[in-house]
Amino acid sequence: MKKKIIIDCDPGHDDAMAILLAASGVSNLQIEAITTVAGNVGVGKNTKNALRICDLSGLHTVPVAMGADRSLIREPLEAAHVHGESGLDGTGLPKEPIKKVADAHAVDVLIEKLLASDGDITLVPIGPLTNIAIAMRKEPLIIPKINEIALMGGGTYGNRTPAAEFNIYADAEAARIVFESGTPIKMFGLDVTHQALATPDKLEELTAIDSPAAAAVADMITFYSGAYKGNFAGAALHDPCPIAYLIDPSIFELKKARVDVETKGEFTYGMTVADFKGRTGRAPNVQFATWLDQEGFWQLFMDALRSY
Ligand code: RIB
Ligand code: CA
Repeated sequence: MKKKIIIDCDPGHDDAMAILLAASGVSNLQIEAITTVAGNVGVGKNTKNALRICDLSGLHTVPVAMGADRSLIREPLEAAHVHGESGLDGTGLPKEPIKKVADAHAVDVLIEKLLASDGDITLVPIGPLTNIAIAMRKEPLIIPKINEIALMGGGTYGNRTPAAEFNIYADAEAARIVFESGTPIKMFGLDVTHQALATPDKLEELTAIDSPAAAAVADMITFYSGAYKGNFAGAALHDPCPIAYLIDPSIFELKKARVDVETKGEFTYGMTVADFKGRTGRAPNVQFATWLDQEGFWQLFMDALRSY
């Protein structure tokens, strides 16, 4: 039985890898739509990259809808230093996509798909949560229609600041709306995504796979690893983590937690404050991913790329 998902993203190299995993022959996921949001780079570039990845992965009928071009309150933030000027530098992919963007706004596509559903769509936000927050505010009736949210974001530490991870830091007010919505959330933060490192041996295994998708991913990892040199054994595949979980939950361990998003702290804006001990007295709102079966993850990812 295919699981229906909507991927909300800001491609970004790891977003691109997440889409390729979700669209692969080893995936039991049915992508209902891809929505884009300002994040790694501007939403226009993110959308163009999403279309380029759809061309590569054969997602010719899945609608790609462009969303918010900035965060709710704070000044827009980008990560071009990680992903390059285009947001997807370093690949040999055609610069211009063939696939066309949908006419509808991402927020309206999210609302329409969720209201029309049987409550069986899982949202997979892997960029800032601006679109999801706006959709919840514009049409609160979507909230009970969301099966669950499996998101990449947050952690018990940060990567954009010592306290805050990029996706949350880019729009903490939006994240707060989502985390306080009452929707079941599975959170794949830095604590687990930093266990999914593309070490040189994994990159070598990848380059031996004879598929256009594998070749593109090898180029992406080679470029994207630049931002991790000196600090990590390889580039972290953040965004494929929630997708991998939805395909095979057995490769992750998750813990119940109460997570609140800091929106006022001078030094802690965007921090996801995780309470695993019930100290806050507030009801748990998240399943927090703490551990990854690294070999299981890489086996799944390599098999996915072999399937193209
Ligand atoms: O902190 C990592 C997250 O920020 C990933 O989703 C990456 O694509 C960027 O959006
Ligand atoms: Ca992303």
